[in-house]
Amino acid sequence: MSLSVIILAAGQGTRMKSSLPKVLHPISGLPMLHYVIKAAQAVSDDITVVLYHQADRIKEALSASFEGLKFQLQDHENYPGTGGAVMNIPTQHERVLVLNGDMPLITAEALEPLTSSNADITMSVFDLENSSGYGRVVVNNGEVEAIVEEKDCTEEQKRIKTVNAGIYVFKKEVLDRYLPQLSNDNAQAEYYLTDIIKMARDDKLHVKPVWVVEESFKGVNSRYDLARAEEIMQNRIKEKWMRAGVTMHLPSTIYIDSRAIFHGDCTLDNGVTIHGETVITESHIKSHTVIEDAEIKNSSCGPMARIRPGTVLEDSHIGNYVEVKKSHLKGVKAGHLSYIGDAEVDEGTNIGAGTITCNYDGLKKHKTKIGKNVFIGSDTQLVAPVTIEDNVMIAAGTTVTKDVKEGALAIARTPQKIVEDFFHRFFKVKK
Ligand code: UD1
Ligand code: MG
Repeated sequence: MSLSVIILAAGQGTRMKSSLPKVLHPISGLPMLHYVIKAAQAVSDDITVVLYHQADRIKEALSASFEGLKFQLQDHENYPGTGGAVMNIPTQHERVLVLNGDMPLITAEALEPLTSSNADITMSVFDLENSSGYGRVVVNNGEVEAIVEEKDCTEEQKRIKTVNAGIYVFKKEVLDRYLPQLSNDNAQAEYYLTDIIKMARDDKLHVKPVWVVEESFKGVNSRYDLARAEEIMQNRIKEKWMRAGVTMHLPSTIYIDSRAIFHGDCTLDNGVTIHGETVITESHIKSHTVIEDAEIKNSSCGPMARIRPGTVLEDSHIGNYVEVKKSHLKGVKAGHLSYIGDAEVDEGTNIGAGTITCNYDGLKKHKTKIGKNVFIGSDTQLVAPVTIEDNVMIAAGTTVTKDVKEGALAIARTPQKIVEDFFHRFFKVKK
């Protein structure tokens, strides 16, 4: 691959109004910058990420997913701006693709018209009805003449509809020649990478505009942009899985993390939310169920169930208002109103409505083990640590504090008392 990539991620992201660095704001479960690096990896073996504001925090966030990334600290105090960010970066190849860390919708396919170009400078542009926030591109006789940042625009320039999408391919020699000549004589007192265009044109170099679609080149500068970008990302994720055989009822109401994976025939009803590295195989997830970092195989969940991290469900049915956390359920039915946490539950077991594993004693979490063919009556509390062996019955309303052996019945209730005619006496009414 004959292309180096520089990813700009050193800016403060003031317009996000956030203590979290802009490029770490998540879209469909992953930081924006994650998607940009993925696209870069598909086109290059020489990638440098430029950082400054909260550099350590950004490096730390990326370290879990990426190895061998090169980071460069921008001399932001002396050379702020996108031009400053590109200065003094050792690149291996003759052409340099500059990507912005705040463009999470970019893909290798969308970059193709740029990465395949051999012009001195190739830049991405699009035409927008509302061009605010972007640098305006002055095009004359089909050649790009200059880019004017919004804050430096005259009223007339503000009306230009062609804008700089913010991604470029430069010949390395072009960067080497013009970067040292940049000045910060502009409204933001920054070194603008975009000023290279005018210098190059003055020297009659060829600056090729490539018209791209906002769908892939959208820049995220505010929380509003973030929400719009996430919508586009969600539509991509859902389209991919629908084409792979997942039925979605009212997909616009469904949220799916970009890390989630589906296998086989699956159905998601309206309002389903799937977070994290969830894997769902041959299952039906019913309305308004929320699943996070769980593995679900050949099962049904919901409506309105909550399946939390570390849960594995196999051949099971989880009904409404059931919460399951860090538990392994195999061949189990839990139809209504239960909390199952830090538990292992085996085949043929039925968990009655209102069953609670009391897994936390105020200091530590404890485990509950439930064997095969156990019938747990409604409103049972299982005070962990506790083991229920196979073929056991637990009577409704029981608080289980001791292990229960194979074949036994456990019952712990205050005996029922009957007071005859109490109602009539209490309300002073005749029978
Ligand atoms: C930039 C372009 C603008 C274009 C827009 C497209 C410039 C001067 N302007 O404006 O023409 O329409 O992108 O989205 O390039 N960054 C650094 N170091 C800095 C400043 C910024 O690394 O000192 C990084 C940011 O982290 C961000 C990227 O560069 O990822 C773009 O910076 P941003 O401030 O968002 O530039 P825009 O105003 O959007
Ligand atoms: Mg931007």
